[in-house]
Order: sequence, then structure tokens, then C-alpha cells
Amino acid sequence: MPGLLLGDEAPNFEADTTQGRIRFHDFLGDSWGILFSHPRDFTPVCTTELGRAAKLAAEFSKRNVKMIALSIDSVQDHLSWCKDINAYNGEQPAEKLPFPIIADKNRELAVQLGMLDPDEQDKDGMPLTARVVFVFGPDKKLKLSILYPATTGRNFDEILRVVDSLQLTAYKKVATPVDWKPGDSVMVVPTLADEEAKKLFPKGVFTKELPSGKKYLRYTPQPE
Ligand code: BEZ
Repeated sequence: MPGLLLGDEAPNFEADTTQGRIRFHDFLGDSWGILFSHPRDFTPVCTTELGRAAKLAAEFSKRNVKMIALSIDSVQDHLSWCKDINAYNGEQPAEKLPFPIIADKNRELAVQLGMLDPDEQDKDGMPLTARVVFVFGPDKKLKLSILYPATTGRNFDEILRVVDSLQLTAYKKVATPVDWKPGDSVMVVPTLADEEAKKLFPKGVFTKELPSGKKYLRYTPQPE
């Protein structure tokens, strides 16, 4: 079964995009990367998603995350669609977005990356691409994967939130609890001994008492 699992290295594919031909590893360089796929050009949900992604480009760039989209259809179609996306955002109908869109006309990448949605088909009965989000770390390994069907648009605020969690937890021995937002307290990872946790988190470690008597619910203010 094709697809990508957490920890897998991003395939170093070559593709035509709205910003020229790319080799994926060269495109990523030493940055984090986000690849988000779309079922088809000139479709309503995708247009709203790409409009929002364009508006958030500065936020991703601040986090050192390179963005790239993928949709079935040609570069020419993508460029023409970009005008609609910019107009939807209330801007000049330019052909440019702040990130490239891969042209996956023959669905080769969508198949290789496990992105097809069998429930949504084009007029020829071919499956469309689902709404996948892949986040790659600077080591080019897959850190996060989200898979939505074509009929459900994603929440790009949530995608930024998970990037914040991924980057924090990549560098600190913490995990982020339910509904965490940047600035909230975080959990000390279970593998860290109490003594070590005290040294690593000088702002303090707060343990919640539980009926089991087990001391696993350990909070600390978000480390710098
Ligand atoms: C959309 O982007 O609106 C869409 C695309 C494919 C299936 C359903 C909705």
C-alpha cells in the first residue's frame, strides 16, 4: 500500500509547479516543510483553503516552514486558478501565490503518497485527491500527517497550532496536552525522571494528584 508513515523520509520526487520544476529535497532545503493536497482546481472548498493558506504564508515563514500545495490539473490551470484565489482574498487577480502548487495531472504523486479519496471521482470515474497535510522536519522525515476527505475543508489555524507543537516538542522534552495553545503549560514526557525534570524545567514541575497514586500528570510552564 503506497503512502507515507510517520518517520518516513519524504520521497525526493521531481515535479512541475507554478514556480517551475522542483526536486522536493532541494525545495525543502534545511527548512521544515508542509505539503497540502487538493482534489481539483476551480473547486469551492479548495479555493477557500488556498486563500487562507496564502494569508497565513507569513506565519509559516516565521516558523521556517516552506509551503507547497498539490492538485490534479496542469500548471496552466493552476496559474489561472491562482487568479481566482487571489480575487477570493480580495486582492489583485494575479497568477502568483506565496507558495508553489504542484501539477499532478496524472495523479502519480497522489498514488505514491496515498492521497486518493475513493468516494470522490471526476467525470471519468477517476478518484480525486483527498485533503492531506504532511509536515516534514528539517531532517526530511514525516512528523505529522492529516487525512481529510475531499468534502471536508481543513482548519489552517489548527495546522499552525500543530506546527507550533511539533517544533516545541522536537527540541524540548515535553508534550502538548489537549487543546494546547502556544503559551499554555505543557506536559513533561513520561520517560523523563523527576530529578531530571526538575533540572530541565527551572520554572517548576507541578504534579496533579490522582486516585491511582501514580505521578504521571506533570505540568511545566512552556519552556523558552
Ligand atoms: C471542493 O473543493 O469544493 C470539492 C472538491 C471535490 C469534492 C468535493 C468538494
